[in-house]
Amino acid sequence: MQRPYVIIVSAASVDGRIASKTGYSRLSCPFDLKRLHEVRASVDAIMVGANTVINDDPTLTPRYVKAVRNPIRVVIDGKMRTPLTAKVVTNKEAPTIIVTTEQADRSKITQLVNMGVEVWVMGKERVNLKDVLEKLFTERGVRRVLVEGGGHLNWELIKEGLVDEIRLTISPYVFGAGTSFIEGEGYPTTMEGPRLRLRSVNICECGQEVIINYIVERCCSSI
Ligand SMILES: NC(=O)c1ccc[n+]([C@@H]2O[C@H](COP(=O)([O-])OP(=O)(O)OC[C@H]3O[C@@H](n4cnc5c(N)ncnc54)[C@H](OP(=O)(O)O)[C@@H]3O)[C@@H](O)[C@H]2O)c1
Repeated sequence: MQRPYVIIVSAASVDGRIASKTGYSRLSCPFDLKRLHEVRASVDAIMVGANTVINDDPTLTPRYVKAVRNPIRVVIDGKMRTPLTAKVVTNKEAPTIIVTTEQADRSKITQLVNMGVEVWVMGKERVNLKDVLEKLFTERGVRRVLVEGGGHLNWELIKEGLVDEIRLTISPYVFGAGTSFIEGEGYPTTMEGPRLRLRSVNICECGQEVIINYIVERCCSSI
């Protein structure tokens, strides 16, 4: 099967949280934000999980940088919880695909379709992320996908061996609780998870953040 190259980009506190226990997630300095938008401008699609849309209401378009076109926005939303008022629905600068399951409310699907959103029903209870990536590759010509979290979507993709690269910014904060960068049932030891190869480490222009770039070398065994 052919699928796009998948990059997870995220900013985490020193204790590895991408959001606090109350959902606060502003961890990037302006330089880091610009870096994120540069990646947005270089990909064909941007993928996020339902909670990220609900909590952050991101527009998911490249700003602060010159972009040739806006990438497709892809929301993985098993129960179709995306609000009709979400920017990925109401903002028309980029196309949006919401991928859901047979559990989704049919009338909400109709409403979203009438609002110009494309809806893919892929799976009975869970969205098969491999199928989504394949479909994006073959039907939409998507070759590079930026994943912008959150932690649960990151885990699902890592678990399925569908991630090629991780760009993680460590910010000078501590949350002590909240959502981890990768949040799931977890691996018992280092043997079960993917092996990462360090590509680069850079200090942000702000002088306080560290940008770590890893390549995913082997995918994990299924757990
Ligand atoms: N600092 C950063 O860089 C950064 C970046 C992004 C997000 N965040 C933060 O991260 C938090 C959200 O992270 P999160 O881990 O709670 O949520 P998330 O990963 O954004 O979304 C998780 C939800 O997505 C749906 N989903 C994911 N994979 C699925 C699959 N295979 N099939 C069906 N549905 C699937 C599920 O919805 P259902 O349960 O409804 O099925 C799941 O509950 C927010 O607070 C946000 O602010 C931070």
